[in-house]
Amino acid sequence: MRVKTGIEGFDELIEGGFLKDRQYLVSGSPGSGKSTFGVQFLAAGALAGEAGAYVVLSESADTIVEDMSRYALHIEELVNKKKLFFLDLGPTTKYGEYEEVSQFITPNYEQHEAESPDNAPPTPYSVFKNVEAVVKQHNIKRLVIDSLSAIRFTSSHPAQEEKSIGRFIRNLKTLGCTTLLLSELTKPDAYTIEQFASHGVIFLHNFLDNQKGMVRALQIIKMRGTKHDCEMRVIEFTNKGLIVLKPLKKY
Ligand SMILES: Nc1ncnc2c1ncn2[C@@H]1O[C@H](COP(=O)(O)OP(=O)(O)OP(=O)(O)O)[C@@H](O)[C@H]1O
Ligand SMILES: [Mg+2]
Repeated sequence: MRVKTGIEGFDELIEGGFLKDRQYLVSGSPGSGKSTFGVQFLAAGALAGEAGAYVVLSESADTIVEDMSRYALHIEELVNKKKLFFLDLGPTTKYGEYEEVSQFITPNYEQHEAESPDNAPPTPYSVFKNVEAVVKQHNIKRLVIDSLSAIRFTSSHPAQEEKSIGRFIRNLKTLGCTTLLLSELTKPDAYTIEQFASHGVIFLHNFLDNQKGMVRALQIIKMRGTKHDCEMRVIEFTNKGLIVLKPLKKY
């Protein structure tokens, strides 16, 4: 069964939509449209009766709600109807507290079953446990995690961290939700564990082209079990979010 994304011009590039209950990575540069993509996906589901949750890890949920409510996507109404949830699971850490609490951070699920202290930055484990509870409580079917980058870099052991992120994604598979993992795209040519572990990878670009000026584009890098478009396609932001247009080379 295909899950419609609600993003104009996108579903037809991936045989009609995402595969249900799978995890997809939406990776992009700053301001490339990751949050917009995520909110459109949730709003489309919520309008069709499927509850969705947007998990905010990298900034305050209030800011995201405020920014995303500027789009004509009925965000406020869907939140009031309990079809759309914004969860603030980001760090509450204030200046000076981080060093003190860093000793509690562990990416290992088995070793550390206890919840993190209130002021600790989120760990993959604490985020997963919180998300799991909300998914069960509100029968959530669509999930957005903003962003995976926020629960990276919480360990001083890079190898452990890779394992921990892989484990986080594998654990998400047990929740019965179609999930978008948002992440920062720092080096497009460097393969990360989240790219391997996800069922599909979408890149969002926002860059300066010598001839074309500022270019905003979307590219489908991988989509397991799906015949998909591979072009770099121009995207535009409208009052209903982003829309996907023609391949960049045709402009
Ligand atoms: N209401 C709106 N109407 C049209 N375009 C908008 C609107 N709101 C935001 N945008 C455009 O979308 C861009 C940001 O999109 P978005 O917040 O989804 O990106 P992001 O990749 O999540 O950014 P970040 O890396 O900061 O999290 C803005 O820079 C702006 O160009
Ligand atoms: Mg964002």
